[in-house]
Amino acid sequence: MATGRVDLDGNPIKPITICMIGAGGFIGSHLCEKLMTETPHKVLAVDVYSDKIKHLLEHSGSGSPPWADRIQFHRLNIKNDPRLEGLIKMADLTINLAAICTPADYNTRPLDTIYSNFIDALPVVKYCSENSKRLIHFSTCEVYGKTIGCFLPKASPLRQVSLWRFWN
Ligand SMILES: NC(=O)c1ccc[n+]([C@@H]2O[C@H](COP(=O)([O-])OP(=O)(O)OC[C@H]3O[C@@H](n4cnc5c(N)ncnc54)[C@H](O)[C@@H]3O)[C@@H](O)[C@H]2O)c1
Repeated sequence: MATGRVDLDGNPIKPITICMIGAGGFIGSHLCEKLMTETPHKVLAVDVYSDKIKHLLEHSGSGSPPWADRIQFHRLNIKNDPRLEGLIKMADLTINLAAICTPADYNTRPLDTIYSNFIDALPVVKYCSENSKRLIHFSTCEVYGKTIGCFLPKASPLRQVSLWRFWN
């Protein structure tokens, strides 16, 4: 584990606790792996699935990995779980990766996609703001309205904006 990391001012980076929402996804699982193997930081991993990080959570008979006490998994849906605020309060930083980001779903579940990428994240923003916590929120091209743009009339100025944002 790299313990000698320094910040931009050359000061040693102190270990922090990160509430990582969407930790069980593609980016989250790799980020958890990197944080566990290369930093001293703690992760409160939040997701509805844990398959991609189970190798970090399960301990085999040969003893616990060095990060065993630095990662905890909390299976919860951020839309409606009161435990979320407590986890955000316990952390120094929240990273939100939760979203529907499967292109096949964008056309078949357009409203779910918009909700998951924007509306469902509002409690996360609220709790971070109320508790003065830093938030890193990952975004998606869907917030630019590519999905809803498909349903607007061709001449709609909104459609031009959303397509412009998509292609640029
Ligand atoms: N993967 C990429 O190349 C890429 C590129 C640009 C932006 N992004 C953005 O980064 C973010 C993460 O992308 P990813 O590829 O890791 O996605 P992913 O689908 O692999 O992971 C998202 C995770 O969020 C979880 N999740 C969704 N809704 C939830 C909810 N309500 N409560 C709890 N957990 C929930 C899912 O179970 C999933 O594990 C997304 O916002 C995505 O748009 C990804």
